[in-house]
Amino acid sequence: MNSNQLISSSSLMHFLFYVVIFLTSTAISTSYADGNDTDHHSLLEIKSMITSEALTSWNNSLHFCDWIGVTCGKWEKRVTRLKLNSQGLEGSLSPHVGNLSFLCFLSLSNNSLQGKIPQELGRLSRLQFLYLSTNKFSGVIPVNISRCSNLETLSLSLNDLVGSIPKEIGSLPKLVILYLGDNMFTGQIPPFLGNITSMEVFSVTRNPLGGSIPDTIGQWKNLREFDSGGCGLSGTIPYSLYNLSLLINITLAYNNFTGSLPPSMGAMLPCLVRIRLWGNQLTGPLPLSISNCSRLGYLDMGGNKFSGKLAIDFAKLRDIYYIRLSYNLFGSKEDDELMFIDSLKNCTRLKWLLLHKCKFQGMLPTSIGNLSNKLQDLYLYGNQLHGNLPSSIGNLVGLKRLHLQGNHFKGNIPSTIGILRNLQVVYLHKNQFSGQIPKSMGLGHPFTLRVFSKTGAFLGVCLWLMMIAAKSARLWSHVCLF
Ligand SMILES: *[C@@H]1O[C@H](CO)[C@@H](O)[C@H](O)[C@H]1NC(C)=O
Ligand SMILES: *[C@@H]1O[C@H](CO)[C@@H](O)[C@H](O)[C@H]1NC(C)=O
Ligand SMILES: *[C@@H]1O[C@H](CO)[C@@H](O)[C@H](O)[C@H]1NC(C)=O
Ligand SMILES: *[C@@H]1O[C@H](CO)[C@@H](O)[C@H](O)[C@H]1NC(C)=O
Ligand SMILES: *[C@@H]1O[C@H](CO)[C@@H](O)[C@H](O)[C@H]1NC(C)=O
Ligand SMILES: *[C@@H]1O[C@H](CO)[C@@H](O)[C@H](O)[C@H]1NC(C)=O
Ligand SMILES: *[C@@H]1O[C@H](CO)[C@@H](O)[C@H](O)[C@H]1NC(C)=O
Ligand SMILES: *[C@@H]1O[C@H](CO)[C@@H](O)[C@H](O)[C@H]1NC(C)=O
Ligand SMILES: *[C@@H]1O[C@H](CO)[C@@H](O)[C@H](O)[C@H]1NC(C)=O
Ligand SMILES: *[C@@H]1O[C@H](CO)[C@@H](O)[C@H](O)[C@H]1NC(C)=O
Ligand SMILES: *[C@@H]1O[C@H](CO)[C@@H](O)[C@H](O)[C@H]1NC(C)=O
Ligand SMILES: *[C@@H]1O[C@H](CO)[C@@H](O)[C@H](O)[C@H]1NC(C)=O
Repeated sequence: MNSNQLISSSSLMHFLFYVVIFLTSTAISTSYADGNDTDHHSLLEIKSMITSEALTSWNNSLHFCDWIGVTCGKWEKRVTRLKLNSQGLEGSLSPHVGNLSFLCFLSLSNNSLQGKIPQELGRLSRLQFLYLSTNKFSGVIPVNISRCSNLETLSLSLNDLVGSIPKEIGSLPKLVILYLGDNMFTGQIPPFLGNITSMEVFSVTRNPLGGSIPDTIGQWKNLREFDSGGCGLSGTIPYSLYNLSLLINITLAYNNFTGSLPPSMGAMLPCLVRIRLWGNQLTGPLPLSISNCSRLGYLDMGGNKFSGKLAIDFAKLRDIYYIRLSYNLFGSKEDDELMFIDSLKNCTRLKWLLLHKCKFQGMLPTSIGNLSNKLQDLYLYGNQLHGNLPSSIGNLVGLKRLHLQGNHFKGNIPSTIGILRNLQVVYLHKNQFSGQIPKSMGLGHPFTLRVFSKTGAFLGVCLWLMMIAAKSARLWSHVCLF
């Protein structure tokens, strides 16, 4: 035997050895329900900690790849998706979930799972989508989740999670969507999150986070939605936020932000669809450049300290349907300070125009009648508007609620109001209207009309009785309205 023969015979033996190993292992895996035994075992462990009707099909009458909510890969019988949202699951999530090593998609949203989120999830290096929202998970976000380096969506909202948002999440290189809203997270928005340059949707709404918005979010160049409403945040809105030119939705409502909005805001955020800044301490004028946000549908700047003459030109905002600027300090003392209403005539989808408690002092322009026939709610109460109420208001055929109380309107109540068929509530009290209640008001369908303040409540009851009497008699008496 020469050395060559020696090598080849040992190679042959190696070869045969491997063939035997291969056949044995195939036989083993076939005997284990023709799939990976670890996956089978993990699923059974997961089932053992959950009570639910939905999992009765998880039994040996079917291969585990055919169990409800389970999807296996095309070639290998390994679990790639586990989708058990809205199945009424109760119990907790077994740490064995971390052994489903081929898992890409895990959704357990909208169940009643409790206990901790197992840190073994961090072993799922292929995991792309993790939905655990709307459950009763408690404890902290396991730091090990930051090892799921392929994670694109992490949704943990509406649970009972506490503690801080782990800064390690900032090292998830592919994260696109992060939902953490409606938990009890504390300890601020970590600046490290700015490292996730792939971020498109970020929501931490309604958590007692405190602190301010870190400058580093300016690195989220792909961001489309930012929601940190009701997070106890303060300080100024970082200028870097306005640098995110793809932003569609911004919610910063119910915080304590101070400072003013940059004049170029509208030019920097041209894609805005929905902006909610309600309930902060913001000051200064509303930027005129908002006139250029042509996709804007929802504008809520109420409950702040915005001031100055409101001069936004709404003509290009053809999709706007909701405008709430109430509870601000806009009054400019100029008669034409409501002229912006002229520019609303092209906003044919406008349903809500809420401008109450704003210190407006001017006159209501007749162009109020050119507003959308979809307008349902017109709230101008608690300002200092004076002059007559234009009769063109009778063109607003969609109007359901008209609140004009607490101003200085004088003259007659326009009879055109009475013919508005959709009206449910008209509040005109605490003004200086005079003359008769127009007959038209008794002829149409019934609606609540309030013309007296509380001190005039007695007279109000009398008037109401008179109106009922008059309605049947089709006869109106002369009443002074306070
Ligand atoms: C199943 O998969 C796990 C993890 O990938 C592996 O360690 C184990 O050997 C596999 N078992 C079988 C029987 O193939
Ligand atoms: C096992 O699952 C099948 C459906 O896959 C179901 O019809 C059957 O009732 C289950 N068996 C038990 C014992 O729950
Ligand atoms: C949540 O699950 C329940 C059933 O458990 C279902 O009725 C409800 O429609 C689900 N809600 C959502 C938003 O999917
Ligand atoms: C699966 O996970 C559990 C708990 O994390 C662990 O004890 C076990 O060793 C893992 N491996 C297998 C093959 O089940
Ligand atoms: C969590 O991650 C650390 C390394 O960061 C690792 O040592 C540990 O085993 C992981 N825990 C689990 C349960 O996977
Ligand atoms: C992540 O962000 C922090 C602070 O924002 C920074 O100090 C750190 O260098 C960043 N890490 C990486 C890997 O970019
Ligand atoms: C923006 O908000 C609207 C209304 O809530 C929603 O329908 C839309 O999906 C949001 N867009 C993004 C990119 O989040
Ligand atoms: C704003 O700050 C004040 C004083 O610190 C606090 O009382 C209030 O609750 C805060 N408001 C919000 C919405 O966080
Ligand atoms: C805004 O973006 C520009 C260009 O990308 C950059 O030069 C500037 O530093 C950014 N400003 C802030 C405040 O992030
Ligand atoms: C709107 O955009 C145009 C074109 O970029 C610009 O000329 C104009 O000044 C902008 N209007 C406002 C109010 O910023
Ligand atoms: C407003 O609508 C009128 C009539 O439909 C149209 O002529 C005008 O160009 C529109 N203005 C803007 C700024 O879109
Ligand atoms: C706006 O309303 C006024 C007064 O009601 C009316 O004269 C004018 O024609 C209207 N303009 C448009 C464009 O509808």
